[in-house]
Amino acid sequence: MLLNHGAATLVLQSFCYLYLMLLMRAHGQFSVPMGSIELIEGGTDSLYVKWTVPGIIESRITRFRVMARTLSDRITQTDAYLSADASEHRFYDLLGNTTYRVSSEGFQGNKSVWYISNLFHTSLAALSWLPAPSDLILIDKSAVMMDISWRTPVLAQAGLQAQVNQHLVTFAPFDPETRATLKQTTITVPMPNTRIRIMNLNPSTTYNITVQSGTDNGYGAPTWCSFSTLSEGETHILKLKSRTPTTLTIKWNAQWASAKEGYTITARTVHTVDGSPDRQLTINSFEGDTMQPEHVLRDLHPGTTFNVSLQPKGRDVAPAWGVYSTLPLGDFAVTDLRLTDETEVAASISWKPVEHDSPVHYQVRYVPNDGGAPIVEEQKSADSLHCPKYGCERLCSLTYNLMRSPRDFTF
Ligand SMILES: *[C@@H]1O[C@H](CO)[C@@H](O)[C@H](O)[C@H]1NC(C)=O
Ligand SMILES: *[C@@H]1O[C@H](CO)[C@@H](O)[C@H](O)[C@H]1NC(C)=O
Ligand SMILES: *[C@@H]1O[C@H](CO)[C@@H](O)[C@H](O)[C@H]1NC(C)=O
Ligand SMILES: *[C@@H]1O[C@H](CO)[C@@H](O)[C@H](O)[C@H]1NC(C)=O
Repeated sequence: MLLNHGAATLVLQSFCYLYLMLLMRAHGQFSVPMGSIELIEGGTDSLYVKWTVPGIIESRITRFRVMARTLSDRITQTDAYLSADASEHRFYDLLGNTTYRVSSEGFQGNKSVWYISNLFHTSLAALSWLPAPSDLILIDKSAVMMDISWRTPVLAQAGLQAQVNQHLVTFAPFDPETRATLKQTTITVPMPNTRIRIMNLNPSTTYNITVQSGTDNGYGAPTWCSFSTLSEGETHILKLKSRTPTTLTIKWNAQWASAKEGYTITARTVHTVDGSPDRQLTINSFEGDTMQPEHVLRDLHPGTTFNVSLQPKGRDVAPAWGVYSTLPLGDFAVTDLRLTDETEVAASISWKPVEHDSPVHYQVRYVPNDGGAPIVEEQKSADSLHCPKYGCERLCSLTYNLMRSPRDFTF
């Protein structure tokens, strides 16, 4: 390991030296010592560098030109001229997750007498203010395709909302035997699209699909769900209608195999995130022949993936099946969140209640915009959160004793 590292450094150093010699030749200088340029601080959109000029040449320099440029064809560069006593510079408004060649060039009048450069990489931020997308659903599927859609998170601050310009979709096949998630593929979906058809998949295979909202500088929290493709020639019968942390609502096509005696529904655990025990749930459903048959599987664990199968009773047909995951706990977020009122140290927020047939508890979470740790409040029942305004269907909550202005936080 150490040896490799040493060898790599040596190769890199030799390369840099050669590069510099060539450069000096180009600049008509042969005997100039190198000096150095180093990164003091790298951010998602900034690079702060410091350079050292060799002593013998320092006195000749009358000004510097510093430059940062990307390596790609899409030439993006920023440069600045600085006085002779400068030895550091911060470049702003750079792209995140991008390698820049940063250089400093010393001039004597109009003549270049010294040049140094190095490669530095801006970081890709995990944006703590950007929540996960919601309502990740499978619209349609075949043996080789999945058509999925989701909703962009709604942020209280318009300025932050405007920065969200893409989503990152990651999918990886999941092996039910070894329970391992295999090699992942990523696709970037530019806004305003919030739907994608993933093609070239394998039949009868489970895929873990994650979606994150993103800006030019990084990505927010992921939401995910596992779905399976159909086998060759099979039709899409069993569908997921909705999911919560503890329920999966499935529906199916009544014309597929009408069953006067109802259906047997089985849900088997395929994967858990929190080490909750494996379960096999068998439900004898007697919904008979209705136009839109559906069933709610209850009391499931959050973030758990199930293979759900549907067998018409007394019929000799292969079961219809599909793989679905319950929502991870933190992903069950409300929609249409608004900052309704604020003072210096308090904020009142309101939102549309979650529609659900069991009692729902809410928890307010807020994050400082400059990237500090999130603050999580106590859970409260929906009953204690009704708006004071009569006839208002929204719920609201007051957060007070803030250390800073509400505008400095994302709720
Ligand atoms: C960051 O950059 C690397 C190299 O260009 C690329 O492979 C990777 O996908 C980028 N990451 C994201 C999340 O865009
Ligand atoms: C540098 O070049 C510019 C234009 O090329 C010229 O106007 C200027 O006088 C030159 N300065 C010196 C110090 O030679
Ligand atoms: C899917 O991916 C998410 C995010 O990486 C991870 O938390 C989850 O455990 C994965 N689920 C499965 C079934 O692999
Ligand atoms: C899911 O269950 C069905 C029926 O029991 C079975 O045919 C299928 O292979 C299972 N799929 C996975 C990925 O476990």
